[in-house]
Amino acid sequence: MKYNEIRKTFLDYFESKGHKIVPSASLIPNDPTLLFTVAGMVPWKGILQGTEPAFAPRVADVQKCIRAGGKHNDLDEVGFDGRHHTFFEMLGNWSFGDYFKEGAIEMSWELLTKVLKLDPARLRVTTHETDEESTEIWRKVAGKEAIRLGDKDNWWSAGDTGPCGPCTEIFYDFGADIQNEDDRWVEIWNDVFMQFDRDANGNLTPLPKQNVDTGGGLERWAALLQNKVDNFDTDLFANLIHATEDIVGVKKTAENTPSFKVIADHLRAVGFAIADGVIPNNTDRGYVIRRILRRAMRHGQLLGHKGALLSKLYPALITEMGEAYPELAREEKHVVEIIQNEENAFADMLQNGMKLLDNEIPKVQNGVLPGEIAFKLFDTYGFPLDLTQMILRDKNIDVDVAGFERAMTEQKERSRADTKGTRTLWESQTQLSATDDHFKYEPDDNMTSKVLAILREGEFVESADVGDNVEVALDKTNFYGTQGGQVGDAGELTKDGVTVMNVSEAARVDNVVIHKGTLTAPLSVGDEVKTVISSAIRQQTTRAHTATHLLQAALRQVLNEDVEQRGSKVSPDSVRFDFRFGRAMTAEEKQAVEDLVNKWINEDLPVSHEEMSLDDAKKRGAMALFDEKYGDKVKVITAGDVSCELCGGTHVYHTGEIIKAKVNKEKSISSGIRRITMSVGTLAE
Ligand code: ALA
Repeated sequence: MKYNEIRKTFLDYFESKGHKIVPSASLIPNDPTLLFTVAGMVPWKGILQGTEPAFAPRVADVQKCIRAGGKHNDLDEVGFDGRHHTFFEMLGNWSFGDYFKEGAIEMSWELLTKVLKLDPARLRVTTHETDEESTEIWRKVAGKEAIRLGDKDNWWSAGDTGPCGPCTEIFYDFGADIQNEDDRWVEIWNDVFMQFDRDANGNLTPLPKQNVDTGGGLERWAALLQNKVDNFDTDLFANLIHATEDIVGVKKTAENTPSFKVIADHLRAVGFAIADGVIPNNTDRGYVIRRILRRAMRHGQLLGHKGALLSKLYPALITEMGEAYPELAREEKHVVEIIQNEENAFADMLQNGMKLLDNEIPKVQNGVLPGEIAFKLFDTYGFPLDLTQMILRDKNIDVDVAGFERAMTEQKERSRADTKGTRTLWESQTQLSATDDHFKYEPDDNMTSKVLAILREGEFVESADVGDNVEVALDKTNFYGTQGGQVGDAGELTKDGVTVMNVSEAARVDNVVIHKGTLTAPLSVGDEVKTVISSAIRQQTTRAHTATHLLQAALRQVLNEDVEQRGSKVSPDSVRFDFRFGRAMTAEEKQAVEDLVNKWINEDLPVSHEEMSLDDAKKRGAMALFDEKYGDKVKVITAGDVSCELCGGTHVYHTGEIIKAKVNKEKSISSGIRRITMSVGTLAE
């Protein structure tokens, strides 16, 4: 049975048993304790705990999961066996206070042996040592004597606290001729009986309702139904591996198989995560995705491939999985562009970093690479520590991790001292003329800019070198420098089509736009460069900015007219809005605000961007910010008849471009001032 048919068979079976079929939730969980959705139960935690009402008594779904980074981490194992994945799909059926142990075990058994026709003799089951009930049900339903195990194997929870309970696991026996026990006995399904809530002190309280949470790895089901021991030999992965062979121009062999597996696995993690709104960056889940992407590129390099890889493979992912996950095709342009930006930024650094590493390897003593070298690779060439470790593992060389961390701490302290200083340093450059940044609204890719000043480690220099962290001022730029709450653009400076600097953020000091980042080629004052912004990140920030205006209008409608803005931060994936209001919002008010913003988004209202005199803007009744300074000419952003504000930020032309908005939190930040946060775009979906 083909991979995609198994998914469908699973859902059809549970639909026939009265389950409501729901699509997968996002990989970005609504749960601050987790980086990613790590199991099918993550989106249903509130229902299991009884804090949210169940929308149906029986539910089934196939949930996208990532286990990489954080506590649930399979990253290092991927590629070296047939079972580990960073991204995988978890098949799950749920009872929210409906059927319990008997129903769950009966259906699992029927689906596996009657529908999928697995040989009952090859299935073994385990139960928790205290769970007489399940053990007896297995005897009755399947004539199986369960193996009884303790908490380590047969007690399940998503974290240290929250819903948990005993579980029963079903294993498939791939046959006595398989020597390795882990390859021979493969866990294919886990039925968890969620009976308790565990508090921070470890106390168990019975949940208001008894629930069932099951999880089966689709990749493993595909392997056994296709009679393969290795998940990567199933049709879906075989197709992704063929696509990789075509792009790298090398065939899979026994030696290079791990690289092909890593690339196929990482393509899914990176592609799905970005389609769900993750942006590779230097923190949290963004950094996990950046690391995974860079590991994939390193494996491409091992296969002799240079440059873009996952961005070229993404269409193959859509071919394999796009029908089940329409977001892959819908977000294609955006995802490919983000991956390309990452790949372009890292391609040269990877080559140069490898040169540095090749030079250092002969000098290694006692099999340990000094922490400072690993840090230099990280800081200058963007090599995550685990990438360096992975490269050296083959050569039996370790990295001095403590030394790496020491170097990192020192660098952080230096840069804290630096950033305090740089604003004053720029302010002291009084001869520097204002940056012409009117291009920021309609970036002009043909425009050439001249380097006016370079600041490096607290000093203005005439030229700087590869790997230097610098701040650069130009005569003109396409970059939006952070102002009016909108976070500045990221992107690159290029010379003759080649990246010379990765710009992590454009800031502003008065009228000068400062491009901050790392050089990937030498740069001198007087050089001509092109300013290339990351348009995917810009698009998200732009959506977020117009959404902020709608949010302000909605707050004024729902709460009252004198809700007054106190500050805001518009980032690529989220909005933070502070306003004066005397009490906490109720759940109904938050919902009403979110509904109103989404209603305006769905109405696809036109957004006009007009320039006019401050007087005319006032006559229009445009709202202005409490403490902004405005020039003679101001920009007025009007969304339908909903909102009209003076604003120098970037905005969409139709509210429908925002896609969707979701209110996250509302809290007090000081007396009488509230802070509300909202996600927009694909992240809100
Ligand atoms: N939540 C259970 C698991 O992930 C089903 O194994």
